[in-house]
Amino acid sequence: PRPILLTRHGESRDNVRGRIGGDTILSDAGEIYAKKLTNFVEKRLKSEKAASLKKFYQNIKIKKCCDSLQLTTVSLQFSCSFSSLFAVIWTSTLQRTIITASPIPGFPKIQWRALDEINAGVCDGMNYEEIKKNMPEEYEARKKDKLRYRYPRGESYLDVIQRLEPVIIELERQRAPVVVISHQAVLRALYAYFADRPLQEIPHIEGVIILLGTLRDALLLEDWPDACDVI
Ligand code: F6P
Repeated sequence: PRPILLTRHGESRDNVRGRIGGDTILSDAGEIYAKKLTNFVEKRLKSEKAASLKKFYQNIKIKKCCDSLQLTTVSLQFSCSFSSLFAVIWTSTLQRTIITASPIPGFPKIQWRALDEINAGVCDGMNYEEIKKNMPEEYEARKKDKLRYRYPRGESYLDVIQRLEPVIIELERQRAPVVVISHQAVLRALYAYFADRPLQEIPHIEGVIILLGTLRDALLLEDWPDACDVI
């Protein structure tokens, strides 16, 4: 079993103003979260890294004794898969996740568009009060069926779930620990997949911010931004 850590990005400047969507940088609290996450990830994955290194060198030694001619091929194969033995950090393409990942040293970082937050279309940049006031029909329609409701020129939860399919396939395939730094709607969908939660519940799941565990043995740790205390 290898750990998978699902975490929301640190608080963004739009989060502070209650605005949805956007692509702002982190607030001061968000920056602190990024640093605490870095400490946590380093601590948590240090032992995994040490174990992988030990296995790596043991394998090289054994192969060397067995057949020195094969050593070059074996080393080549190992160097290709070497980085995949360690953790990888996945972010969305939005600044708030990339900046949250930026202090974490020594692991490959990959950006996935599929990990971007739900696209709020014409409502991007508004807060919920503004939507309620200026677009009451849209507000009510979403309240009635949050799973299927699609923002005008944007996405629904069902759309998000669908675009996460390749991410989930890759998460299942990976042999290394993965740290996923993403967004509220996306993390709800990912969490629901790993925790076997019904589709209808997904848009309403609360507190799925930090999830640590193995693929089938997920452990919900804490809410965000209170996760700072846990980390
Ligand atoms: O408010 C932060 C945010 O990530 C928004 O960008 C996004 O639209 C929203 O959360 C998703 O949560 P909900 O589906 O509950 O509105």
